[in-house]
Amino acid sequence: MVTVNQQRVPRKRTYLMCSPEYFAVEYAINPWMDVTTPVNAELAVKQWDRLRGALVDLGHEVHLLTPEPGLPDMVFAANGAFMVDGTVYGARYKHEQRSAEAALHRAFYEAQGWRFIGPGEINEGEGDFAYLPEAHGGLILAGHGFRTELPAHAEAQEALGRPVVSLHLVDPRFYHLDVALASIDDGNIAYYPGAFSAASQQVLAQLFPDAVLADDADALAFGLNLVSDGANVVLNGAATRLAGRLKAAGYTPIPVELSELKKGGGSVKCCVAELRH
Ligand code: ARG
Repeated sequence: MVTVNQQRVPRKRTYLMCSPEYFAVEYAINPWMDVTTPVNAELAVKQWDRLRGALVDLGHEVHLLTPEPGLPDMVFAANGAFMVDGTVYGARYKHEQRSAEAALHRAFYEAQGWRFIGPGEINEGEGDFAYLPEAHGGLILAGHGFRTELPAHAEAQEALGRPVVSLHLVDPRFYHLDVALASIDDGNIAYYPGAFSAASQQVLAQLFPDAVLADDADALAFGLNLVSDGANVVLNGAATRLAGRLKAAGYTPIPVELSELKKGGGSVKCCVAELRH
């Protein structure tokens, strides 16, 4: 295969983030969380702030959600909703420990005046939904198996008017789609095949023949939990081989350190919801 070093073009984004002021590991709802591991919330805030700064330095707009005591996972703002072309499909969390977050996200979106559609089905927003505006005319990729439930995929399709491709997550370490797959530009993705059922791997290979693939180590280092503006890819610094592959494909990797938030089972993308208004 010939590697063409393409010039990638960034597109200005609007994001939503929430400070980890009250971040803690008080319960374990994914295999990364261990309630006996000490968490340094102050360091978490510092690392999170560097991530926010990196996105602002790239020219993006970052809205902030006010964190609430008693909601230690609220920093993972990607789970609160999924927005496509100005319409917001709200989240309904699987675990009751996080369920109160949904209303706080809803209040944010409604205050912006954006069209908000409340969900009937369990779904964790951008944790399990990704949008590729230039793929096949605008395609939603959706994960199920651990958090978001399959009927939510049909509900999202009705709410947002875009085709939804359902992908089956089969490895509990990759409990959300956004730890196993990411959009790297408007039409292409990076992913870790091992997180998906054999049939879903076949679907991904058919739809995205030019995808960038991550190896086990980089996927487990949360490398795929990345945020890209189409040219600049902000990702966990530990995923060095993935960064190299992205660079070879013409993207500019921007490594960040989020060791504290990893204790909650999340990294870059979990902290950032994209507002496609
Ligand atoms: N502790 C959180 C949970 O298990 C982490 C959420 C990570 N967010 C994400 N978008 N993958 O719900």
